[in-house]
Amino acid sequence: MQARCYEEIQSVFGDSTPRLSERHLLPYTDAFLHEVMRFWALLSLIPRECYEDCQLGNYLLPKGTQVMLSIYRCHYDPTVFPEPTQFKPEHFLTDEGQLAPHKRGFLSFGAGTRVCLGESIAKKVTFLITVMLVQAFEFVHCPEDKGVDPFSENSNLIAALPRRSKVRVLPRKA
Ligand code: HEM
Repeated sequence: MQARCYEEIQSVFGDSTPRLSERHLLPYTDAFLHEVMRFWALLSLIPRECYEDCQLGNYLLPKGTQVMLSIYRCHYDPTVFPEPTQFKPEHFLTDEGQLAPHKRGFLSFGAGTRVCLGESIAKKVTFLITVMLVQAFEFVHCPEDKGVDPFSENSNLIAALPRRSKVRVLPRKA
């Protein structure tokens, strides 16, 4: 995947500074970043409170009910993301290899009136930083770290923090 991102980045930017105006020309890299956020959402639960009685499917939720929306459950729904436990940028690509339109079950930034106010800037910054890192370095997972459970002991009900992994960072140019 890294090699494919690098190839795409090289074909559009070479080693020059990336521009957001060209982001649409890097659908695979963009899909890869969406998949990172799907696979390991920063927050796993979003709290809400009903400000009036409401019906949710077969359930009547009285005013004041606290509801926890599970981002994890949405991101691992096989009807939206086939083979959800597999890390696949293709989850966000159309058959033509373009970035798929916004997916119903993708909730890394929440939804509705309290949706993350920083979504746009977070996506832009993540894109630019990742492109610059991949242009400059190759990241190699250390063999002694392979097969280790990636879940951190620091994870809790709200936030799932990945365990630190050992990675070798190799400059692409001497
Ligand atoms: C990858 C980075 C980020 C992720 C995954 C993320 C995720 C989220 C999520 C899940 C929520 C709750 C949304 C909901 O209740 O429906 C939220 C709220 C919020 N986020 Fe972010 N966020 C990110 C970066 C940022 C940045 C960079 C900023 C500011 C520049 C920001 C500002 C906010 C604010 C102000 C809210 C509260 C919105 C409200 O309650 O009305 N976030 N974010």
